[in-house]
Amino acid sequence: MKTPKFRETIMQITAYVPGKPIEDVKREFGLDDVIKIASNENPLGPSPKAVEAIKAAACEINQYPDGACFELRQKLAKHLGINPENLIFGDGGDEVIFHFAEAFINPGDEIITPDTTFSEYATSALLMGGKPVTVPMKDWEIDVDALLGAVTDKTKAIYITNPNNPTGSLLPKEKIDYLLEKMPEDCLLFLDEAYYEYVDDPGYTSSLEYIKADKNVLALRTFSKVYGIAGCRIGYGIAPKRIIDLMEKTRLPFNVSRIAQKAALAALDDIDHVAKSRKVNQEGKAFLYREFDKLGLEYKPTQGNFVWVDVKTDCKALFAKLQRMGVIVRAGAPFGAPTHIRVSVGTQRELDKFIECLKKVL
Ligand SMILES: Cc1ncc(COP(=O)(O)O)c(C=O)c1O
Repeated sequence: MKTPKFRETIMQITAYVPGKPIEDVKREFGLDDVIKIASNENPLGPSPKAVEAIKAAACEINQYPDGACFELRQKLAKHLGINPENLIFGDGGDEVIFHFAEAFINPGDEIITPDTTFSEYATSALLMGGKPVTVPMKDWEIDVDALLGAVTDKTKAIYITNPNNPTGSLLPKEKIDYLLEKMPEDCLLFLDEAYYEYVDDPGYTSSLEYIKADKNVLALRTFSKVYGIAGCRIGYGIAPKRIIDLMEKTRLPFNVSRIAQKAALAALDDIDHVAKSRKVNQEGKAFLYREFDKLGLEYKPTQGNFVWVDVKTDCKALFAKLQRMGVIVRAGAPFGAPTHIRVSVGTQRELDKFIECLKKVL
């Protein structure tokens, strides 16, 4: 059969390769106990209130969801202190990244990202015929001057993940202010705040003040991390209405399921679950720092729910050995870091197992 002629840009895109699911690793290596600390999920599981809401919503799935997410929009707007029309919802935060690209990126437009960050910004730009430009980080920190140095008259947006995935580093308020002051006026700052609920650094500022001031800022947030409902697929963008209105034109009519909307509404109310999740993350981070110190491994103190550590050996080989022992982490190689791994902060039992296996492998 002759395949229909495809778009040339598609050849520049590598399909996303997620980590292996626990069940696959169990089957492949004949293991009973496998832990996955690779995808920055919530190790406590979902918000129990969200689970209850999902059960109740299950009887209504013969009906389409509310395409406008009215109830969630109102509640979230109140929670964030913004207007409901400043929000757009996505089938996961991932989809919001694509909504932006579809509405704003023309063939030949450039986007700028640090070279060690989330892959989907580049993928979404490539899909639209845009050109991702990457700039090096400095000691795993975002280098604002390097980002500005890469700006041309084709630059459409600069992407910052704050805190950054996979390095866990934070861009403080004064650097965001500086970036916004120096960026061309018609360029957008995409601030991905998927992990913002975990931040405890007093120098952190969220995107909301810029959005309220009508700057060209689009923030991304998600219910996949601290709220623990990654499997439902729901995230959202926050931006001035003039930006949201354009993105809305690209959104599929019923992109966020009924189940996801109900789960998010309940998770937002589950203050206990959020507090517990943050506490477990604090304790897990501290434990990992202590153990890495003992092993003489350098790590980046993190503001997220994962730690970026230099294992001083080929990370792909280490990843494979850990996997055979029932521990799934994220290798640094796809991020261009051949001796790093990213470890999600798991429960104490998971972290004990990880450290025990890491010691054996090293
Ligand atoms: C930095 C960052 N942005 C966005 C996402 C997308 O999250 P989701 O699509 O699950 O909402 C992730 C997921 O890991 C992420 O790490």
